[in-house]
Amino acid sequence: MISWCIRWDPDNGGKPTYKSYNIDINSCGPMMLDVLFKIKDEQDPTLAFRRSCREGICGSCAMNINGTNCLACLTKVERSPDTKTKVAPLPHMFVIKDLVVDMSNFYAQYKSINPFLQKKDPSSGKEYYQSREDRNKLDGLYECILCACCSTSCPSYWWNEDKYLGPAVLLQAYRWIIDSRDDFTEERIAQLDDAYKLYRCHTIMNCAKVCPKGLNPGKAIAKIKQSVHFGHAV
Ligand code: SF4
Ligand code: FES
Repeated sequence: MISWCIRWDPDNGGKPTYKSYNIDINSCGPMMLDVLFKIKDEQDPTLAFRRSCREGICGSCAMNINGTNCLACLTKVERSPDTKTKVAPLPHMFVIKDLVVDMSNFYAQYKSINPFLQKKDPSSGKEYYQSREDRNKLDGLYECILCACCSTSCPSYWWNEDKYLGPAVLLQAYRWIIDSRDDFTEERIAQLDDAYKLYRCHTIMNCAKVCPKGLNPGKAIAKIKQSVHFGHAV
């Protein structure tokens, strides 16, 4: 197998280039993250990429493989020896080095939605109970691992990432809007009623196609738009 990885080093400057590596897939693990480790261990220790859990939990190995955003640790290696695989950083993100992108803006946007339970009277000291029906409303939302595969596959986010919150952060915002234990639902909805933050979504739906956890951020965004329209969580 031949793997083409984008290489760019801020110390050397210049334009990013693809570098090819021949990989013996018979002595390599089954996932693309294994290929990257094999390159780093045996051919080029300078190759930079993020990873932590190698089980699709932490979201840090998100990258673009053969034109699709995905998690390297969940993406199987093509077993044919003639296969050529192209590996690139997440699209339309500033690159720090090789496959490592700058997530600062993404995390700042996540922070802006107050991604935690907010109570008007947090002093009760009691557990906040939730019915099974209300808990079920969090399914399809709480599983998000903030990998940013969806946001960085969204053309609306590419062109307005400074102002549009993007599918990942909006899915997370809806996760707190619909949580029956939260007391700031109306404030959360009002905060998102903005031409750029929310309404740059044009339902292109790349987000749902690439999500490695099978989630549908586009649906969550539609629910936020409905909630804005009705003035309460829908
Ligand atoms: Fe990743 Fe899916 Fe969450 Fe988007 S919705 S950040 S693709 S897990
Ligand atoms: Fe954690 Fe891939 S290494 S999701």
